[in-house]
Amino acid sequence: MKIQIDTQKRTKEIFDLFGIFFEDLNHAADGGLYAQLVQNPNFEFLPIDRWDYHNLYAWEKIGGDDAVAIEVLKDNPPIPQNPHYVKITGKRGTGIRNLGYAGGMVIDKSDTYDIFFYAKGNTRVKVALEGQNKNPLCEKVFEITSDWKKYTHKFSPHTSCDSATLAVYLEDDGEACLDAVYLFPNDTFEGLPIRNDLAQALLELKPKFMRFPGGCLVHDGSLEDTARDSMYRWKNTIGPVEFRPARRNNWQYNQTLGLGFYEYFVLSEKIGAKPLPVLPAAYNPHRMLALPLDQLKPYIDDCLDLIEFANGDTSTPWGRKRAELGHPEPFNLEYLAIGNEEVGDEFFERYAYFHKAIKEKYPEIKIINSSGPFNSGSEYEKGYKSAYENGSDLIDEHYYCSPTWFLANMHRYDNFDPNGPKVFLGEYASWGNEVYNAVVEAAYMTHLQNAPVVALACYAPLFCNVNYINWQPDLIWFDKNRVVKTANYYVQKLFSVFQGDYVADVKKEGFETPRQKKKI
Ligand code: AHR
Repeated sequence: MKIQIDTQKRTKEIFDLFGIFFEDLNHAADGGLYAQLVQNPNFEFLPIDRWDYHNLYAWEKIGGDDAVAIEVLKDNPPIPQNPHYVKITGKRGTGIRNLGYAGGMVIDKSDTYDIFFYAKGNTRVKVALEGQNKNPLCEKVFEITSDWKKYTHKFSPHTSCDSATLAVYLEDDGEACLDAVYLFPNDTFEGLPIRNDLAQALLELKPKFMRFPGGCLVHDGSLEDTARDSMYRWKNTIGPVEFRPARRNNWQYNQTLGLGFYEYFVLSEKIGAKPLPVLPAAYNPHRMLALPLDQLKPYIDDCLDLIEFANGDTSTPWGRKRAELGHPEPFNLEYLAIGNEEVGDEFFERYAYFHKAIKEKYPEIKIINSSGPFNSGSEYEKGYKSAYENGSDLIDEHYYCSPTWFLANMHRYDNFDPNGPKVFLGEYASWGNEVYNAVVEAAYMTHLQNAPVVALACYAPLFCNVNYINWQPDLIWFDKNRVVKTANYYVQKLFSVFQGDYVADVKKEGFETPRQKKKI
């Protein structure tokens, strides 16, 4: 047997091969990576997000019906984008309490906590973080006035508790209106509102790129710009968090957008990953909604403006916006995906307009087309046809399959056209978090690494909060203070941390060909 390695002959440059894909499903962001602790901070949880939601979801009244009344109002709100607020009318010592996400808030006495809220009224209010038996961990009384005003404070709790709540009490008999109550720990990842332990798990993966913000979350929405259930529009996700319009997340919950595009870009940078945003193409294959071709401009502008936001000089409008948010240096965007798992001629018709407009203005950006949700079939073929016709740089493939499928398809990419679009395997996993699944994925990743046509690949989904499971398997499981890395995670880490620069030419002689079953 002989193996001959020609180190001078490279069959592939590996570049950015192994990365990650972040989507806010399984409460990966709200109640997860996003460190903010108040659930439903703007009183905007509505049945359009999930059937059992209401404005006071995750809040409870302090005091009996005879002592206090809580009304949900929307006249003259301090934040028009998130119009609902509450009015508390009652006796001293009554009020409202936020329960946080599943099981309460983790409060650590070695940390400090920034709170802000908007209020008006004719009584003082006391805000307290409370632990076991409602014992205060820290508290502060605020004088409020008859006009809306934003109040801020830094709490230093004297005791730790991992099931804390946040209470707002009337300090006098009277009434107080309250809105946008946000609580942030200070001990977070790189100054971002991001949980340290979860970000650390990403950092350790050494991903070469980060795809965000979804998945189906991107295109499963209505076409109206400002609708509560609109498609993911990145311009809604930057700026002060309380002004980001709460949004229906298609994974049956509310997405506060506290992690928005600015945070995703900075997070990518901090973990050493190239940003890889996905934007919708004004087409929703879930509900078969398509914007007429002559009305695509706002969606195409979103793509062009995003590139300017990421890379533009600070003298450009969107480059200036980036600088105002705190990042004058460019984010060096190289990749942009149009659409996610698209099916239907309507998408491919629209893709051509997006592709042309982006390439005309930014020829250097690598545009990623979509080949639908399956590893083969007519929609998959349509994706490739469109990628060839338009000259897409890459095409996004997705498949979730049995380990047997992966084993049987190890050589899938060996004979792909080397001159065609490069493959971005943007979502894949074998069905399970067992060691066997991880080993199968490792074998498959070896072939992804060797196949010249495969340029990028990332496992999906990345995160799952054990209290809010939409989808499994997942790479990293967590609750409010624990992180569990799966066997699949360690495989991804192995390949990513030890990713090489190129594949050398290998010739082998004298090896047995795989044994075939005897025909009977
Ligand atoms: O990764 C979970 C989901 O799977 C994604 O949102 C979607 O693109 C795919 O169907």
